[in-house]
Parts: sequence; structure tokens; C-alpha cells
Amino acid sequence: RKILVLNGPNLGRLGSREPDVYGAADLDDLRDYLAGEAPDDLTIDLRQSDDEAELIHWLYEAVDTNTPVIINPAAFTHYSYALRDAAALVTKAGVALIEVHISNPHARETFRHTSVVSAVATGVIAGFGFDSYRLALNFLTFRP
Ligand code: DQA
Repeated sequence: RKILVLNGPNLGRLGSREPDVYGAADLDDLRDYLAGEAPDDLTIDLRQSDDEAELIHWLYEAVDTNTPVIINPAAFTHYSYALRDAAALVTKAGVALIEVHISNPHARETFRHTSVVSAVATGVIAGFGFDSYRLALNFLTFRP
């Protein structure tokens, strides 16, 4: 079994990017944390891209391989209809896709209060730091 953990733009800079908001840990720390939380028979395939097209192609891969997705769409959350449409392909195919955020976007600037992805996601978890991903992983572990 495998889970795709996709991260959108600027999340490659985690650790040094606004640590007051996102914490001091980086994506490698997140990968290690999730790998430690995952059952032995579950592979965590964590990826990051600043490129909308690449993220979209990874969602096609999820559809074609029937692989559940945890996705932090980062700023694309708020305006990428293209990413939303690709996310809809995943959930309409009956494959789980959980939207996660490290911070709580609802407690921040107004432009972060809208997600164009949420309506086509299986569920949304926000505001718990890296535990947003871990909670999504816990769900998928028991309800893939
Ligand atoms: C984020 C929240 C977004 O508003 C922001 O653009 C990000 C990260 C989060 O994980 O809290 O890049 O998705």
C-alpha cells in the first residue's frame, strides 16, 4: 500500500520560511515523522512542487494507480481551479483525497479563508502543524 503526500508551492522552504507560522521543521522532518507513524505495510511517498502542472500530473497518477492522497495545496488552495478540477478527478474516482494545512488559514488573512479545493476533497484538516498530516494519515490507515 502507498499514500501520496503532495505539497504545493513554497513548502520546499519549510524550516526557514516564516517559522513563527509554520514551525522550524522541514519537509525531510515531515517525511521522517510520517514514515514513523505509518504501519509497516504502508509506503509514504512525500513530494513537493512549486509547479501547478506537476501537482496536477501527480493527481492523475493517484487516479491511475488508485492511490490515496494527502495534499497541502499551499497558496494554490485559494485560487487554482485547475488543481481543484484534478482533485475532483481523484475523489470522483472513489480515491480519498484529504486537504491539509499546517496553519489555520481561517485565522489568517481574508484571502486564505477561501479554499477552491475543499468542496471536492474527502475532508479537510487544518491548524495542527505537522499533526494535520498525521491525522489524515491515521484516517487513511483505517479507512483507505
Ligand atoms: C498553507 C496555508 C496557505 O494559505 C499558504 O499559502 C501556504 C501553507 C498551510 O499549510 O498552512 O503556503 O497551506
